[in-house]
Amino acid sequence: MEERIKVSNLVKRFGTFTAVHDVSFTVHENEFFSLLGPSGCGKTTTLRCISGLEQPTEGEIHISGQLVTSPEKNVMVPPERRGIGMVFQNYAVWPHMTVEQNMSYPLRLAKRPKEEINAKMAYLLDLLELEGLERRFPSELSGGQQQRVALGRALSTDPRVMLLDEPLSNLDAKLREQMRFELKDIQRKTGISILYVTHDQVEAMAMSDRVAVMNSGKVVQEGAPHDIYETPKDKFVADFIGTMNFVPCSVTGKTEKGIDIRLRGGAEFDLDGSSVNKGDYILAIRPEDIILGTEQGVECEVDVRIFLGNVIEYRVRIGEDLLRVQTNSSMRFEPGDRTRAFIQNGLVFPK
Ligand SMILES: Nc1ncnc2c1ncn2[C@@H]1O[C@H](COP(=O)(O)OP(=O)(O)OP(=O)(O)O)[C@@H](O)[C@H]1O
Ligand SMILES: [Mg+2]
Repeated sequence: MEERIKVSNLVKRFGTFTAVHDVSFTVHENEFFSLLGPSGCGKTTTLRCISGLEQPTEGEIHISGQLVTSPEKNVMVPPERRGIGMVFQNYAVWPHMTVEQNMSYPLRLAKRPKEEINAKMAYLLDLLELEGLERRFPSELSGGQQQRVALGRALSTDPRVMLLDEPLSNLDAKLREQMRFELKDIQRKTGISILYVTHDQVEAMAMSDRVAVMNSGKVVQEGAPHDIYETPKDKFVADFIGTMNFVPCSVTGKTEKGIDIRLRGGAEFDLDGSSVNKGDYILAIRPEDIILGTEQGVECEVDVRIFLGNVIEYRVRIGEDLLRVQTNSSMRFEPGDRTRAFIQNGLVFPK
């Protein structure tokens, strides 16, 4: 697979503060790749370096095989010559231009022939389902329609790479969900590579082929959404991706397939797939990995039940700990019920 964006050992300092700390990753052709992390972790700064709007302190950036940034080699290709489309955080469309004027702006700027512009506009209006709205101004459009105009403008020059910085952040929950499908669809139809930035883990997991999780200027884990969800590398990733129960535990011995665990209240069980030495740890358990009403398992008491539509969430007490449990099983429990909980999966992290 061809490399579309290659970021190598990128460092960006603002004065003495390091916003991006030795970040490396590669986005391939047709790939939907996300940078995911909490506010301030360096996502936008990384994207601005790739776009050419920001000069990094160290590192190299290649786009479609071409070296576009290298402070060491004195290379800094201007943004408009990088062959990328961009939609930036809170960067909407020009209010004084119509839909069509907004979307055709980069082509008019490049003095492309009229026929080419018209053909491209017809294609984009169809792709983005904006037909009939071409003469409207942004103030006459919904948030989602404005976002699609911004996408259209970025797509107008046929970039092979798109940089999107939280492009859905101004939309309500329903529209965001709809736009997720549309973005994936647009990517499939155009075959471009997308580098997507978000602090919303659900969004990143839903759309990406691969995700790089960032924290404090560093990439802490990179992989397919499923792998990151199943095997988060550390407590930060485990906490940031999905819902996780964290409880203190002791590892008291080894079993054939894993380890013996004891919780604070004295509950004991074994956990397959782990192999750590005896000692005190933090046990991380997904709410869907606790099965209630089993014959084997540890004693627990149901504290709260919450109906979430397709699943039911319980809060159960195991010894001294309260844990979230999610199930779509038809077995129902009431607050105060005593039953057993089987912990079918879990990860141990250093305290
Ligand atoms: N021009 C600048 N001068 C000084 N510090 C900056 C500058 N731009 C960004 N920073 C700092 O660098 C860090 C990373 O900022 P960045 O905008 O990349 O975060 P982010 O991950 O995009 O966050 P968010 O999710 O809130 O958009 C922040 O601590 C920010 O305050
Ligand atoms: Mg940002």
